[in-house]
Amino acid sequence: MNKDTKKLLIYKLFKNSKKFSIKWSNYFQVYEKIFSSYRNKKIKFVEIGVANGGSLFMWQKYFGKNAKIIGIDLNPRAKKLEKHGFKIYIGNQSNEKFWNYFYKKEGKIDIILDDGGHKNLQQISTVHYSLPHIKDGGKIIVEDTSTSYLKKEFGNPSKYSFINYAKNIVDNIHRRSPLLRKKISFYSKKIFLVEFFESIVVLSIDSRKCFQNKEVSNKAQNEWAIDYRHNEYFEKLKSKFDKKYGLLNKRSFFRRIIRKIFYRNFIFNILDNQKIKKILRDLNN
Ligand SMILES: C[S@@+](CC[C@H](N)C(=O)[O-])C[C@H]1O[C@@H](n2cnc3c(N)ncnc32)[C@H](O)[C@@H]1O
Repeated sequence: MNKDTKKLLIYKLFKNSKKFSIKWSNYFQVYEKIFSSYRNKKIKFVEIGVANGGSLFMWQKYFGKNAKIIGIDLNPRAKKLEKHGFKIYIGNQSNEKFWNYFYKKEGKIDIILDDGGHKNLQQISTVHYSLPHIKDGGKIIVEDTSTSYLKKEFGNPSKYSFINYAKNIVDNIHRRSPLLRKKISFYSKKIFLVEFFESIVVLSIDSRKCFQNKEVSNKAQNEWAIDYRHNEYFEKLKSKFDKKYGLLNKRSFFRRIIRKIFYRNFIFNILDNQKIKKILRDLNN
């Protein structure tokens, strides 16, 4: 545990909560970063996975008395915590019907944090069935995403892991780029930002910011800039050939052909990819 974490209000509230709770020590820095702007606001905050209720007390103190703190758990005993002012729903986070019921009762919410069963279907269902019901400016947080790499009990790594699903969301938000010419999906219309922390994924929801992208420029003239991205290899070739044969001088037909090939660039992608392979080897070491 680093000493900065110990100074955080959210950590102090966690330590002093009157009911038992377990969290990973890196989460408190993340909480402070993603939640501080919601403090003392009138929000609806939902946590899946209540257990003894320790975290519910922490959230209530952190967000303040205007926040409505809601817990969801499979365990009917969690209902006891309602006497402390929390609203508790007993249900299964992998069940679509449960979510229909829940959102019918609660309407739109601001933040949902998943600290439930941590299995692929459970985490994916939370995001999928909650997404339509999160207010603009809200968040979906999934904790313990390290389970996407754990074999025992979680059946990962797998094509169907939560982390792979989250990477799919990253692909999906890129659909907003007109360059991709892809159909805008429901996900691309709602999710503005995806953040990956160690064992936590944060989705920031804001349909107002999810417009289809377009290029804009200012009023000044383009004086001399051209796209130099292909020139790395072209210049190399030029310096070799030009000195010997003068084939790539400015007006030559050969130069135009060669340039065209460079701009198609498939050969150069192969060369680039060799270098990238080496970088990836370093990354995965
Ligand atoms: C890690 S504990 C929650 C800890 C709590 N958030 C805390 O910080 O003290 C996980 C909880 O998720 C609940 N849970 C497991 N699978 C679930 C599911 N499919 N739907 C809803 N809750 C589930 C368990 O009953 C358990 O209470």
